[in-house]
Amino acid sequence: MNDRIVTVFGGTGFLGRQVVRHLCQHGFFVRIAARHPDQGNRLFALDEPKLHSVAVDIHDERSVADALSGAFGAVNAVSLYAEQGQETFHSVHVQSAERVAAQAHRAGVERLVHVSGIGADATSPSLYIRKRGEGELVVRAAFADAILVRPAVMFGLDDAFLTTILKLLGRLPIYPMFGHGLTRLQPAYVEDVAEAIARVLQGETHAITYECGGPCIYSYEELLRDVAREARLKPMLIPIPFAAWYALAWFAEMLARPPVTRNQVELMQVDNVTSPMMPGFGELGISPHSVEEILQRMLRRHSLV
Ligand SMILES: NC(=O)c1ccc[n+]([C@@H]2O[C@H](COP(=O)([O-])OP(=O)(O)OC[C@H]3O[C@@H](n4cnc5c(N)ncnc54)[C@H](OP(=O)(O)O)[C@@H]3O)[C@@H](O)[C@H]2O)c1
Repeated sequence: MNDRIVTVFGGTGFLGRQVVRHLCQHGFFVRIAARHPDQGNRLFALDEPKLHSVAVDIHDERSVADALSGAFGAVNAVSLYAEQGQETFHSVHVQSAERVAAQAHRAGVERLVHVSGIGADATSPSLYIRKRGEGELVVRAAFADAILVRPAVMFGLDDAFLTTILKLLGRLPIYPMFGHGLTRLQPAYVEDVAEAIARVLQGETHAITYECGGPCIYSYEELLRDVAREARLKPMLIPIPFAAWYALAWFAEMLARPPVTRNQVELMQVDNVTSPMMPGFGELGISPHSVEEILQRMLRRHSLV
């Protein structure tokens, strides 16, 4: 049991809320920081004395500083998948990431975990991947011992990844694939990534980068066939060129909740697998769950078995 406070920026998100739970299980007190704290109140039983929800916009220096006051640790799990107005990849993944790191340093926070993504690269031609790479660099410049966690694409019971695939496979007799379905993926279970972050906060003291990927690497087509087999579906998978997806995503982004974004299309063009040179789940003593294990639970939840 420890009484140390960890502020989780994005603590109401898909990954963030699991991070909050795992930190609590490790005995931390958690400050859930997001723009809509009522979300936190709904997601967690806030009569739980270890949890406290605060309204924070990471674009706003004052609210970031307040959220970090007296904290032992901080996790930045804020996302932006489609740019909209002032919310750009640069403003969120670079400027605000730097703001969180600088304010954490100023507040005397001992450990900072910055959540990035596999393949983050400041020299990439893809705007999103480049901004994730630049974000890592500015975070380390502002907080030298920041720990970077790069998850592969994540799945979980309430995810947008496998759930969408499952629903579409169930509804569409013909399933449009990204390109020829050759992109390699190593999906990671969101709870394993959350546990990795909790363990890192508990033990790690120096700058290190973890890459967190699941136990299996699939081509996108193999993954679709695997999910379809588990759900006892027999879809016809049709390759669709990336250029066509890109055009579709451009129009889709005009919607309030775009079903596909150009950023997602770009990400599906590059392999999303961990480097064997980088530490990951193994070094943290975590044996990651497979897609198949969690899929059975998802199928029951969606009454598909
Ligand atoms: N999901 C994946 O498969 C995946 C894979 C690799 C890496 N990642 C990375 O993992 C991290 C978490 O992703 P996720 O999928 O869990 O994201 P998510 O579900 O979209 O959650 C985002 C969280 O950030 C908060 N947020 C957004 N803008 C904010 C702002 N301006 N100020 C404060 N809070 C803000 C949101 O709450 P409010 O809207 O209430 O503010 C929410 O709590 C991101 O860095 C993402 O790039 C995700």
